[in-house]
Amino acid sequence: MLDCLLPSGRFIKEAHWGSDLYYFFFAAGSGIVPVFGIIKSILHQNPEAKIFLFNQASSERNIIYKESLEKIAATHDNFEYILYLSAPIQEKTPVRRLNNLQVENFVNKRLFSPTERENARFYICGPTTFMRMVRFTLKLDGFEDEQIKQEQFVIQEVRQAPPLIKETSPKHVKVIAEEGIFEFQVRYPESILSAGKKAHVPLPYSCGAGQCSSCAVKCLSGQVLMTQNDILTQKDMDNGLVLTCTGHPTTDIVLDYTLKN
Ligand code: FES
Repeated sequence: MLDCLLPSGRFIKEAHWGSDLYYFFFAAGSGIVPVFGIIKSILHQNPEAKIFLFNQASSERNIIYKESLEKIAATHDNFEYILYLSAPIQEKTPVRRLNNLQVENFVNKRLFSPTERENARFYICGPTTFMRMVRFTLKLDGFEDEQIKQEQFVIQEVRQAPPLIKETSPKHVKVIAEEGIFEFQVRYPESILSAGKKAHVPLPYSCGAGQCSSCAVKCLSGQVLMTQNDILTQKDMDNGLVLTCTGHPTTDIVLDYTLKN
């Protein structure tokens, strides 16, 4: 018998699927896999949705879901499928690799008004450098964090130094969860998650590196400093969400897992 977490993360469809939204997908290599599922889901719920897929593959031999995507494009005028090959086998096929200028052009040629820009949603999945390039370009182009989602297949092993905290006495943590109430102490420089694990408190987590949001929880009282956060937006943090895997309490805190993120 194995206990496991439910699926988690933020690379998911939104609750609101208005036909006023513009969905941009940037997928490279096997990054097309989660993207393909989301595209099908959108079209199932809203066949008129405006969807633009940019897909980067290396050669003709490894274009995942090519036939299915071409079929969807042939039957949906509102779905645009653009494919680049970085190392094509056929000589007549041009070598093309997405860059920041092309991302900018790709998006700005499809969004014309401020309202359309506000209604744009971006999903990025692929190698880290590809995702970083697309994300930075979109951010520089003025899009908000809330409009951009990205999926990490590979967790970056980043060992962050603990935050500089003047007052380093042990902090009390109270956890409210479906399973009951748990209490433990966090001693600097431990993170909340690592202290919880030592105290055998069943806190959820996955990447342990501030990148997936499995450990996100509402902080009802007290202050937490995070050394790494690649997933929570400013709006999430304003709503009290913190990550326990990279979070260090600077006061006593109360965390509530029974409230929806
Ligand atoms: S466990 Fe992934 S963000 Fe904390």
